[in-house]
Amino acid sequence: MTTDEQVAVSEEERYRILVDAIADYAIYMLDPTGVVSSWNSGAQRFKGYAPAEIIGQHFSRFYTEEDRADGLPARALHTAATEGRFEAEGWRLRKDGTRFWASVVIDAIRDPAGRLLGFAKITRDLTERRAAQEALRRSEEQFRLLVQGVTDYAIYMLDPEGRVSSWNAGAERIKGYRPDEIIGRHFSQFYTPEDRERGEPQRSLDIVRREGRFEREGWRQRKDGTRFWASVVIDPIRDERGEIIGFAKVTRDSTERKLAQDALDQAREALLQSRKMEAIGQLTGGVAHDFNNLLMAVLGSLELLRKRLPDDPAIRRLVDNATHGARRGVSLTQRMLAFARRQELKAAAVDIAALVHGMADLMQRSLGAAVAVEMRFPPDLPRARTDPERLETALLNLVINARDAMPQGGTITISGRAASVGGAWTGGMLPGDYVCIAVTDTGEGMDEATLARATEPFFTTKGVGQGTGLGLPMVHGLAEQSGGRLVLASRPGAGTTAELWLPATADDIVKATPSPATTGAEARPMTILAVDDDTLVLTSTAGMLEDLGHRVLEAASAAQALDILRHEPTIDLVITDHAMPQMTGAELARIVAGERPGLPVVLATGFAELPAGPAAGLPRLAKPFDQEELQRMIGRVMPPR
Ligand SMILES: Nc1ncnc2c1ncn2[C@@H]1O[C@H](COP(=O)(O)OP(=O)(O)OP(=O)(O)O)[C@@H](O)[C@H]1O
Ligand SMILES: [Mg+2]
Repeated sequence: MTTDEQVAVSEEERYRILVDAIADYAIYMLDPTGVVSSWNSGAQRFKGYAPAEIIGQHFSRFYTEEDRADGLPARALHTAATEGRFEAEGWRLRKDGTRFWASVVIDAIRDPAGRLLGFAKITRDLTERRAAQEALRRSEEQFRLLVQGVTDYAIYMLDPEGRVSSWNAGAERIKGYRPDEIIGRHFSQFYTPEDRERGEPQRSLDIVRREGRFEREGWRQRKDGTRFWASVVIDPIRDERGEIIGFAKVTRDSTERKLAQDALDQAREALLQSRKMEAIGQLTGGVAHDFNNLLMAVLGSLELLRKRLPDDPAIRRLVDNATHGARRGVSLTQRMLAFARRQELKAAAVDIAALVHGMADLMQRSLGAAVAVEMRFPPDLPRARTDPERLETALLNLVINARDAMPQGGTITISGRAASVGGAWTGGMLPGDYVCIAVTDTGEGMDEATLARATEPFFTTKGVGQGTGLGLPMVHGLAEQSGGRLVLASRPGAGTTAELWLPATADDIVKATPSPATTGAEARPMTILAVDDDTLVLTSTAGMLEDLGHRVLEAASAAQALDILRHEPTIDLVITDHAMPQMTGAELARIVAGERPGLPVVLATGFAELPAGPAAGLPRLAKPFDQEELQRMIGRVMPPR
């Protein structure tokens, strides 16, 4: 052997060893007819035949029965022979009959003269890779079906520019677009025009890029232009290098939850507000009630003082001044009591249009020439149930507020309309029919903070001594006490509308009964039992009665009054306070009616908390009362002689 031959042999040998060592590929040769003529270890490993078993056998046995019947082995060789190469993937059989997924290359081998010597065949077992690919494909398919099938969430993809690239059933249901209508379009069209103008769509994608996620709630638009409250999550989709190749967007329609939440917030806010007003009302009412009694004592004593003092103009002026101040105090406490709903509501069916028209002159006088009043009432406006006298005061307050808001003058419109309240949130009113009286001005309006506090007692933006801040509270109190509501709407510069909602009624209007004439008995001196737990008031009442020439017995409680009554058969009349601890004036009156039938009892009351029933029929004296009112009452209840 020459060195050259040695080298050649060893080189051939090296190839054989190399081919043999390759365990991952079956590398073997076929003769021109397809009979196996060599076999490497890879071929043995995954086809299962030892070289001795297979060399000399036809290669078609590696093919499945179907492929053999189809003539695939011969076709493969033919292709390799004519085109130089055959390449395919397909199922092949192992020795044990099991299948594997093979990637096959067959190359024709020719001598330098071009004669076909045979074929080189390289086969790879791709079963695992194929299984993995298949699993991936199936999982992707399942995932796609899953995403497609979800109808409660809009799940879709955007390309890096924000154009829609996939669309599921939920997206179609929630947003209203079919896939062919929306794929390829920019996602900004789901946003409201305002949000688009502010650049919200782009901003949300910028946030995803920067922070890796975007999560928000907001109003979005459906295809038909209606809005829904959307909970939105956007995630980036990245390739293996981390580049963003799109966005995954999940949107939920949370409109119902949002509306329920809003309603709840509103209700909570309203409840808080009404609790606050209730608490302020309690305080105001308590203070006002005590002040009312004090002022009554002051006024009563001043009245007597004036009579008994020498006729000196200087002294008289001082007493007049004190009386004037005390009267102002009385009107303040009256408004406070009205706010606290502690003023009597003499409810009646009221023809609103007639009442307002009847006030026209009075209004025009209080408003001045620069302010015009327009009245608009439909002819069929139902009657409202409220206290007509207090309604007049309330309306006067509203138009004066309107005037104050229009220093340059303007027009105040007073209108009425019928309205029904029902459904979920009624703003604290019972469902039913209402009359809504609106007082609208074109004045300066209120900012949010002022509007929120406008009905609080003592809240005023008018200068010291200009406003008491008790106007709207009084109107509010009347509305609430009537079973309605005061609603204010205002914006700075856009004027104010105050709406007074009052329950509608089908009752007939009762003509005001003129106060009964006196019997003339008031001039006759008698013995009167005065009852009040407040000594100041008691002294004042007793003083006024004595000044009228009566004999007065004083009792500081109902129990003491009963005691006196039982020992004093000469008593002609009882005048008693109502709100007293232990036993009220009304209860006292009931016992008196049992023990001394026919003995007149007058109830002095400061506010409306008088029980219905028998006591409702008792003659009533509203606190504070002066001597004249006291005298008139006596004249009414005492039988003439
Ligand atoms: N029509 C209106 N336009 C603008 N602001 C108003 C209007 N009505 C009420 N307000 C605001 O509400 C506040 C409270 O009103 P409210 O009637 O209770 O008290 P007032 O008018 O200040 O005092 P008073 O009624 O005792 O004269 C006012 O000071 C004002 O700031
Ligand atoms: Mg006012």
